[in-house]
Amino acid sequence: MSRVYNFCSGPAALPEAVLKKAQAELLDWHGAGVSVMEMSHRSSEFMSILASAKARLSRLMNISDDYEILFVQGGASTLFSQIPANLANGFESACFLDTGAWSSKAIKEAKKYTKVSVVGSSKAQNYTTVPDFSTLELDESAAYLHICPNETIGGLEFADLPETNLPIVADLSSTILSRKVDVSKYGVIYAGAQKNVGPAGVVICIIRKDLLARSSDDLPAIWNFAHLAENDSMINTPPTFAIYLADLVFEWLEAQGGVEAIEQINIRKAQALYDFIDSSNFYSNPVDPVYRSRMNVPFILADESLEALFLQESEAVGLRTLAGHRSVGGMRASIYNAMPMEGIEALIEFMRGFEERHG
Ligand SMILES: Cc1ncc(COP(=O)(O)O)c(C=O)c1O
Repeated sequence: MSRVYNFCSGPAALPEAVLKKAQAELLDWHGAGVSVMEMSHRSSEFMSILASAKARLSRLMNISDDYEILFVQGGASTLFSQIPANLANGFESACFLDTGAWSSKAIKEAKKYTKVSVVGSSKAQNYTTVPDFSTLELDESAAYLHICPNETIGGLEFADLPETNLPIVADLSSTILSRKVDVSKYGVIYAGAQKNVGPAGVVICIIRKDLLARSSDDLPAIWNFAHLAENDSMINTPPTFAIYLADLVFEWLEAQGGVEAIEQINIRKAQALYDFIDSSNFYSNPVDPVYRSRMNVPFILADESLEALFLQESEAVGLRTLAGHRSVGGMRASIYNAMPMEGIEALIEFMRGFEERHG
């Protein structure tokens, strides 16, 4: 068996140690005689896994008791609807910052539930930068401000938050646990699991408890955040195996030294790749250097006609899924927490060789 370096944007590479542990526990979890997939979600065994996942995430992100951790189903895209359905109740509008494809998708869905006010957009710059926060037209009577601090497709990331009294709702799908975040500055943080947390099928939703009061009883019970919180995310059968895997990933991350330690590694990984791209006349990245993503590194080749060959040759040497998103083309290396520095070095070496051969 040989594992390759997997640069997929999601579902993304998981730490090998996590996969091995899951494999070892697959047939018989801790003497239960069944796998996690086969046990009741109400069993004491699964309840202990759920509690462990919540406790580890709380420690990793320093989440206070003012917040509830929910495990939601349907992917982050479901929350594009679920959030306005819950949080815009009783408000005239919600504010959105438009910094790329994922913000735009969130805006499109929210419009079905509330009036959307786009407070700033970098669309005119082809989403290669972030609007100046001092120019944002925030309506302080709105329900919340939605942001996407890491645009997975465009490879754009920002860490600072706009000044506002509105609850900030952030889609951290592709950046959660990759860098330090002050949770107390947010109303809601949500993230699809399939990048830095675990397998697809579960979404982490960290919500400030006072916001739960906005959820109306008229909502479908399964969509109601307050209801989910009251029932410990178990209104119905939760994605048990995905939550178990998330717990193993959290355990792995704690063993790496937590978010602070992995953030330093992530900085070095991204820096090495961007430095190489910038030093070459053959590869380029269009994003404003201040806002380049540490997790998703898109790049183009000087000669577009070489793209198919680049992908073919890179796959052949064990560098998998380097194609850019189908909407933008080009290449993209997604380098989440589970990607080791060796994977970056192998990619740079391949890119250098490809340029020498074809540039
Ligand atoms: C930033 C961001 N938000 C939302 C989504 C949608 O996630 P899902 O496929 O879980 O609905 C993605 C998927 O890649 C994403 O990168």
